[in-house]
Formats: sequence, C-alpha cells, structure tokens
Amino acid sequence: MRRDHRKKPSGVGIKGIGAYVPEAFLTNSDLERMVDTSDQWITERTGIKKRHKANPEQATSDLAREAALKAIADAGIKPTDLDIIIVGTATPDMFFPSTACLVQKEIGATKAAAFDISAACSGFLYGLSIAEDFVRAGKYENILVVGAETLTRILDWSDRTTCVLFGDGAGAAVVGRVGDGHGIISTFLGSDGSMGDLLKLPAGGSRMPATEETVRKRLHYVKMEGNKLFKAAVKAMVNAATKVLDDSGYRSQDLDLLVTHQANIRIIDATAKRIDISDEKVYRNVHEYGNTSAASIPIALAEAKQKGMLRDGMLVELVAFGGGLTWASVLMVW
Ligand code: ACO
Repeated sequence: MRRDHRKKPSGVGIKGIGAYVPEAFLTNSDLERMVDTSDQWITERTGIKKRHKANPEQATSDLAREAALKAIADAGIKPTDLDIIIVGTATPDMFFPSTACLVQKEIGATKAAAFDISAACSGFLYGLSIAEDFVRAGKYENILVVGAETLTRILDWSDRTTCVLFGDGAGAAVVGRVGDGHGIISTFLGSDGSMGDLLKLPAGGSRMPATEETVRKRLHYVKMEGNKLFKAAVKAMVNAATKVLDDSGYRSQDLDLLVTHQANIRIIDATAKRIDISDEKVYRNVHEYGNTSAASIPIALAEAKQKGMLRDGMLVELVAFGGGLTWASVLMVW
C-alpha cells in the first residue's frame, strides 16, 4: 500500500514499447583480432561480451523505424495517430533533415510534428520528460519517443579505448494517457557543459568543418576520457536517481525495477550499491549490446517487458547519463 504523502502518478506514461537491434554483432574475440585487447580486459572492465553492428545500408533512422513500428503496434494505435515524434540520437543520419523527420516519412505518421534531441545517452529520458509534459498540458495525445544510434559509424576502430565499448540499436515508446494510478510520477533533467570535453566528436560541425586534415587526424571519431567520465557518471547517476525518489516521497527500497543506462557494468553496480537497491531489481543487459547510448534504456525496457520482469503496477525508475554532460531520471508506475 503506497502512503498518501507520496506523489501520485500523472496518468501519462508509456503505452507501448519496442526495440530493434541489427542482426550482425561483434564479439570480444572479434575485437581481439582488430586491436590490442582481450576478452578478459573487456569483460572485467566493462561487462560487455558483444555489441550489435548495423549493416552498411542501415542508418540510424532505419533502426529507429523498426523500433517505432513495434512500439506503435504494442500501444494499439496507428502511425497516423501520432502527434509528435521525438528522436534522441548522437548519430543522426545527417545534420538535417532531422532523424525524427526521416522516421515520420518512413512510418507514414503524416499528422506528426518531428524533431531530434541532442543529449547523447540521456536523449531518450529527455524525450520522455518532454513528451509527458506535452501530453499533460492537454494539447497532444500520442507522442513517439525514440532512442536510436549507430555508434559503430563514429568509432575509431584502431582506438582500443573506445571501439570496444559501443554498439548499435534502437528503442521506442509511445507516450500517452495510461489511466489513473499509472504513469510518470516525477522527472529530472541535468547537465554540465563544463565537462563536455570528456566525450566528444570534435570535427564535422561549425567549429571544425570537415577538411582533408580533420579526416587525416581522425577527428571525426569519438574521443573520450574514460576514467574521468566513469567517476562523473557514477556521481551524476546517483544524484539523478536520488532526486526523483526524494521529490516524490519514495525510497530506493520501494522500487520494483531500476533500469539505468547500460554503459559499463561497473557504473551500473556502483550506482545500485550507492542508492542501496537489491541486486535482483537492477536490470542489466550491457553484456549483450554494449553501450547503445540513447537506445539503451528503451531496449532494456522492451526486453524486460518481454521477459516478464516489467509488469503492470510496478514502481520503475529509469536513470541515464551521457556526453554533454547530461543526466536524467524518471520515476513511474508501469
Ligand atoms: N583493452 C586492453 N587495454 C585497454 C583497453 C582495451 N580495450 N582500453 C584501455 N586499455 C588500457 C589503457 O590503455 C590503460 O593502460 P595503461 O595503464 O598502460 O595506460 C589501462 O587499460 C587502464 O585504462 P583506464 O582508462 O584507466 O581503464 P578503466 O578501468 O577506467 O576502464 C573504461 C576504461 C572502460 C573506458 C571506463 O573508464 C569507463 O567505462 N568509463 C566510462 C565510459 C562511458 O561510460 N562512456 C560513455 C558515456 S555515455 C555516452 O554519452 C555515450
């Protein structure tokens, strides 16, 4: 029985969920043949065993489309019922048109407005928070929120400190009215641009347009200071996780399921330990997909639902952290 002083769910939440990952994947042994690394190092330091990789003809919008169609079917609506499409991605098909507009065309969501969010790994939760507010404001009914990435396209496959970490995939959710006693209770978004240099793709934008020199210097690939990022990630995830619980009058022990961004098993474990939640309530699939950035939380949610680990009435917390830096958390009743 939930006590009265606790904040009630808004009645707006996730009506349908879906995920898609490309069939092809790279194992740690595959990577051993590409760079100076080992299955043991990758497993011990990250928990990752394999990561999926888009086919050459697949771009981010193609992965997003597949996840979106599953989420729409799961919600029991048609693409033409969508009012808004929001895509969180750090790997758009191109600068513009937005990936959300490409998805809108692909799925035939002719009535939907569409836009992208750039918040790296926190993109899906940023989108979820915006979608909830849009629906609660009463102007829109059905909003598609997608997290989709083809990180393997922006990795330097000769840099062992980054190429072993990331994978491709997409997850999507339809946000709308889910009835009394269900839906989002609280959301929290944060960022710290002063730490933006810890994870970035330096060239190809207006600061450093693409030239032969930027290509030669491999500046169109992800650059990361992993160690500093690790510490910042744990701190930000713990703060974000605690914030929505405190704001709503809940304790971590009340949670039925914690789904964090899947970047590194050690970050997930350290976060879970610090917020004091029992191990079996923490969802982990980083071993299977690597870090799929904005796609990781909706992929995990879709998978948890499929496995029967995400059931009606459960108190669920979602927590993300990403480049920017950005972080976010969402507390909801499923
Ligand atoms: N294989 C073998 N050795 C490696 C590899 C590898 N793939 N990568 C690095 N090493 C070496 C390093 O060169 C270093 O060697 P040295 O001591 O001789 O210099 C040693 O391993 C230790 O390196 P560290 O960077 O200190 O290792 P650490 O324990 O910090 O693990 C890791 C590195 C896994 C990257 C970790 O720091 C991490 O997960 N950081 C967070 C990364 C992250 O979450 N990024 C995404 C943020 S979300 C987003 O927005 C996409």
